Amino acid sequence: MAKEPVRVLVTGAAGQIGYALVPMIARGVMLGADQPVILHMLDIPPAAEALNGVKMELVDAAFPLLKGVVATTDAVEACTGVNVAVMVGGFPRKEGMERKDVMSKNVSIYKSQASALEQHAAPNCKVLVVANPANTNALILKEFAPSIPAKNITCLTRLDHNRALGQISEKLNVQVSDVKNVIIWGNHSSTQYPDVNHATVMTPSGEKPVRELVKDDAWLNGEFITTVQQRGAAIIKARKLSSALSAASAACDHIRDWVLGTPEGTWVSMGVYSDGSYNAPAGVIYSFPVTCKNGEWTIVQGKNTGKYDPITC
Ligand code: NAD
Ligand code: LMR
Repeated sequence: MAKEPVRVLVTGAAGQIGYALVPMIARGVMLGADQPVILHMLDIPPAAEALNGVKMELVDAAFPLLKGVVATTDAVEACTGVNVAVMVGGFPRKEGMERKDVMSKNVSIYKSQASALEQHAAPNCKVLVVANPANTNALILKEFAPSIPAKNITCLTRLDHNRALGQISEKLNVQVSDVKNVIIWGNHSSTQYPDVNHATVMTPSGEKPVRELVKDDAWLNGEFITTVQQRGAAIIKARKLSSALSAASAACDHIRDWVLGTPEGTWVSMGVYSDGSYNAPAGVIYSFPVTCKNGEWTIVQGKNTGKYDPITC
């Protein structure tokens, strides 16, 4: 029997991440190749015409899984009945800015959209905040939507996680799918700590630690970390626009693993409500290693990084 459609909200859907993300969702990249979806797209009135153009293209693409499209500038209409909310709406930073520099513009959006979500989304709606500063916006959303369980509000650090996998794969000239269990600790900002101390690579003779294969601690403790920390800025410098296809893909990875589960023996990085694990401040949205099962994430414990530990050292 065909599954009931899942309603997925994308805010800022007329923007560049939105344009990359909505076809991925409509193709089943986020929720599975057998999961019908209804897309809810929200943007602001100046972008209404562009939003309607995206809707026209979605119709023209004739996606078999796409069972409906709501394109609106009304937050209540956009949020009504949604099961998954991907919050992309806001302003990106420009060259020379830090992500916190867009805080004054973006945080107010998350205050106002929190109540629309709280009042109109489906019960147990899973929320992913992408817009920067992502951890702060997610925390604001949580504070202003107190009836949404804290465990349902997350932010995107999967892009940083994927960037770390990509760097290791390039350094070792191995398939990225053979690299796993990097960790992004902290904020989606240049203060994050990309950690390879538990990461492994599948080789013909079994799984090997990344540190053993790379054999270059100076690179792992230096250039690797700064490259991942600064990758967003490098992309802005190169494209004159911030990352979009990789951000959209990471958003799909985040929701897919949260809803459908992480593979056995693998964790991923998600910005989640901190319970104080690893001495991270309790109550903030912080990126940890997590596994997911039955639609719930759990922080992986015992992955302190010893002498490299950014939290306890
Ligand atoms: P963009 O400017 O192309 O698109 C943003 C869209 O949001 C625009 O269409 C804009 O009209 C819309 N918008 C503005 N205010 C809104 C509101 N109140 N409600 C609904 N929509 C609203 O930007 P983009 O490149 O798509 O980036 C979006 C955000 O995602 C930025 O803040 C960017 O910094 C962030 N980002 C985060 C990550 C991450 O890994 N967490 C990665 C890439 C980008
Ligand atoms: C990214 O990491 O690519 C995004 O957060 C965009 C940015 O401002 O760096």
